[in-house]
Amino acid sequence: MFKRISALVLAGLTAMAVASCGGGGGTTSAGTGGGDDSITMGFSQVGAESGWRTANTKSVQDSAKNAGITLKFSDAQQKQENQIKAIRSYIQQKVDIIAFSPVVESGWDTVLKEAQNAKIPVILTDRAVDSKDTSLYKTFLGSDFIEEGKKAGQWLVEEYKDTKDPVNIVELQGTTGSAPANDRKAGFAEVIQADTKFKIVASQTGDFTRAKGKEVMEAFLKSTPDIDVLYAHNDDMGLGAIEAIEGAGKVPGKDIKIITVDAVKDGMQALADGKINFIVECSPLLGPQLMDLAKKVVKGEQVPARVVTEETTFTQEQAKQVLSTRQY
Ligand code: AHR
Repeated sequence: MFKRISALVLAGLTAMAVASCGGGGGTTSAGTGGGDDSITMGFSQVGAESGWRTANTKSVQDSAKNAGITLKFSDAQQKQENQIKAIRSYIQQKVDIIAFSPVVESGWDTVLKEAQNAKIPVILTDRAVDSKDTSLYKTFLGSDFIEEGKKAGQWLVEEYKDTKDPVNIVELQGTTGSAPANDRKAGFAEVIQADTKFKIVASQTGDFTRAKGKEVMEAFLKSTPDIDVLYAHNDDMGLGAIEAIEGAGKVPGKDIKIITVDAVKDGMQALADGKINFIVECSPLLGPQLMDLAKKVVKGEQVPARVVTEETTFTQEQAKQVLSTRQY
């Protein structure tokens, strides 16, 4: 630990972490285990719900190794209680810094206060919390999800600019209560509400997973006639929905136009194949920036309160051009 703890004690604490975080999807510890100056980070991940999440986990783990930061990693299996348990365990272990991607926005004040009282700084990555007291965390690194929703809406407005007919939209929302689900919904709605021809005829959570995306889309197809557009809050749900659409004898990308968010490789492949029409990028490669911020925070340096990830959008033509070099 940072000028505080020997490698021997660290090994003991790592064993305790594995024991105390059981049921949270498992905790692992990796890194250089370095000398006196080394930093130990406790990282609580949302889960492994999507291709985006898998790429994000890899980015965090690889970057910790490259930065010489010892990483204690736990997977919360999309459960807030597991994340709270993991954070408490990191506090007990006196890690130098805690980073986490909060599964939902609400309900973090108590545990964040505990970290603050223990003088352990916290960095939010990927997703925000709705705590009024922003002193509970040092910085928030991640995408602007409202902007992502707006970009999805802007493409739709442009795509249908020449029609006056109603456009029936179904929406597959991300995990209920999560920042990306709340914000992608709000940003999209804000843009399309200017024109009354756009109607969201059904909207339900697919929990950011492929299986749920398929299941909910099957239900939409049965209950909702004349679907023109699917807006899925991530690629995985969109890919599950494509299976449902094909299963119903319809052609994804043509009979039903599809907009998704993320731009992971499988999503980009479906975009290049014409099954998805437009993808808004959400980058999971947050690891290098997270480690830089962590080093600064531990040294007591000032960091910006908000670090927004740079992102783009992809049409079908653009997907064909970049597919072979896509990292994740
Ligand atoms: O928080 C980022 C979102 O979480 C991604 O868009 C989604 O795929 C993931 O599960």
